[in-house]
Amino acid sequence: MARPSVRRTGRGALQAPGVLMDTESRDDGATLRHETLRAHLLLASRPMLRHRLLSLLTLSALGATTLPACERSPEPAPTPAPAAVAAPAVAKPRAPKPLTPEQLGHFFLPLPPAKDAKPAPKDTEAQVALGRMLYFEPRLSKNHDVSCNTCHGLTTFGVDNKALSDGHKGQKGSRNSPTVYNAAGHIAQFWDGRADTLEAQAQGPILNPVEMAMPDEKRVVATLASIPEYTTRFREAFPGEKKPVSLGNAARAIAAFERRLTTPSRFNQYLSGRHDALSEQEQRGLQLFAATGCTTCHNGPAVGGTSFQKLGLVEDYPGLTDAGRFDATKNEDDRGKFRVPTLLNVDKTGPYLHDGSVKDLPTMVRLMAKHQLARTLTDAEVDDLVAFLKSLTGELPSPELISEPPLPASTKKTPKPDPS
Ligand code: HEC
Ligand code: HEC
Repeated sequence: MARPSVRRTGRGALQAPGVLMDTESRDDGATLRHETLRAHLLLASRPMLRHRLLSLLTLSALGATTLPACERSPEPAPTPAPAAVAAPAVAKPRAPKPLTPEQLGHFFLPLPPAKDAKPAPKDTEAQVALGRMLYFEPRLSKNHDVSCNTCHGLTTFGVDNKALSDGHKGQKGSRNSPTVYNAAGHIAQFWDGRADTLEAQAQGPILNPVEMAMPDEKRVVATLASIPEYTTRFREAFPGEKKPVSLGNAARAIAAFERRLTTPSRFNQYLSGRHDALSEQEQRGLQLFAATGCTTCHNGPAVGGTSFQKLGLVEDYPGLTDAGRFDATKNEDDRGKFRVPTLLNVDKTGPYLHDGSVKDLPTMVRLMAKHQLARTLTDAEVDDLVAFLKSLTGELPSPELISEPPLPASTKKTPKPDPS
């Protein structure tokens, strides 16, 4: 499965169709070798300008100027002179200038679909309704006590807020549960991207021995087919099929349901032109998010989910044992790379990282700046970035969609719970 690990192009912090800045405008006397430096933000003050140029230079030295951004092995990270990096001593932050629609579009709007992209599946209401039931169905687990909702609670933003989840017999896997909200837009599913689609993903946990632990497809089908309402609903959801009750169709229905799990936020309103949808501080955070280079990796409508990137790109991440994307591709270049997570609802989806090892957002933001961008942020910058990240918390869908639906009773034929 040789899938390109970066589908999007041109999102790197330096590729923005922004102002063309020439080196003359710098006031620190250093020589810039770049003929032109494209900056994606309009910079008002000179100290800020120097500050940002340095961060852009850092990025460019890291190979972010050419694509695929971040996919190239980084040259040793240059350590910018501490004095130049120190944030300008301004008592009161300037009122933020809104990013232009072009800049916003560049970073956060979907790219036009690739030529070979498959059209999005058409989901019927019958499939969505069945998928909702199956999402909450504990009888899809060996001991009838774990459902998708156990680890991806829909009223808790699609996660369980545990570092590692409890599956069959309370067993823990080695990775943190990512949110199911907005997952449909991701380049691939799982931290290592081993499933291409939600359909492919949904079969995994049902048969995974530490998650729902069903022994095989036969047992899944025997369970569902033993309950008359399910037989009817599968027939309605997959009309004309000879064997509508199957693991594949269960996954297909769950995926149809998951595609409805989106969370529009104030940030979406801002993107559509309502500048008052974000507070001044949130807008400053957004500017900083782009200027610092977070958008090199966290981009697109889900502010992430568009590429695989190395954790510890510019500075090794301590204690990293998970091989990440390598597990799926067996390609050495992919060792330590993870599918960049979405940042939508990130304030609600902690703890963070593939292993759930980081508890709070300010710490996470500092670690990202340090290990992914070789940047040390001031407290004020961290506050602004965190304020922006919190603005990505969206509205959950209505209870009609995300509350547990009534589930049909078992029959004599339904296989019994098996605690072994
Ligand atoms: C025991 C806890 C547990 C259960 C039960 C569970 N999951 Fe997960 N889920 C996880 C973990 C952990 C991961 C990440 C695993 C990895 O990346 O290797 C994950 C990953 C996912 C992802 C990928 C999201 C992304 O951004 O990559 C989706 C979608 C998902 N699960 C949906 C489901 C569905 C649907 C079900 C029910 C059929 C389900 N899960 C059952 C724990 C669970
Ligand atoms: C070089 C790519 C890259 C850059 C640049 C980057 N990130 Fe990340 N970010 C990642 C990857 C990859 C992960 C997941 C790593 C893991 O789980 O091990 C991640 C995880 C996160 C998380 C945790 C999300 C979660 O659900 O676990 C937050 C928050 C975050 N990044 C914010 C930022 C901020 C803020 C910046 C800018 C200061 C930034 N990132 C810059 C690649 C990047």
